[in-house]
Amino acid sequence: MYVCICNGITEEMLETAQKQGLNDREILNRLGVGNSCGVCVIDALDSMRAKTKTAQTQQKHTDSKKIS
Ligand code: FES
Repeated sequence: MYVCICNGITEEMLETAQKQGLNDREILNRLGVGNSCGVCVIDALDSMRAKTKTAQTQQKHTDSKKIS
């Protein structure tokens, strides 16, 4: 799904950048998210933070299985 229409940036592109270890600001700058009209920045940040939270929850679940 497109996050930034002006620059053709998708959620998948954000996720790929996250997997490369970039922080939110680096991702926005590198991909050019928000550098035109700017209406996408909040949604892009929300999307990246939701992915991060999901990944952290999955990791905790995996870790708890290893302990028990
Ligand atoms: S939608 Fe991203 S800069 Fe316009």
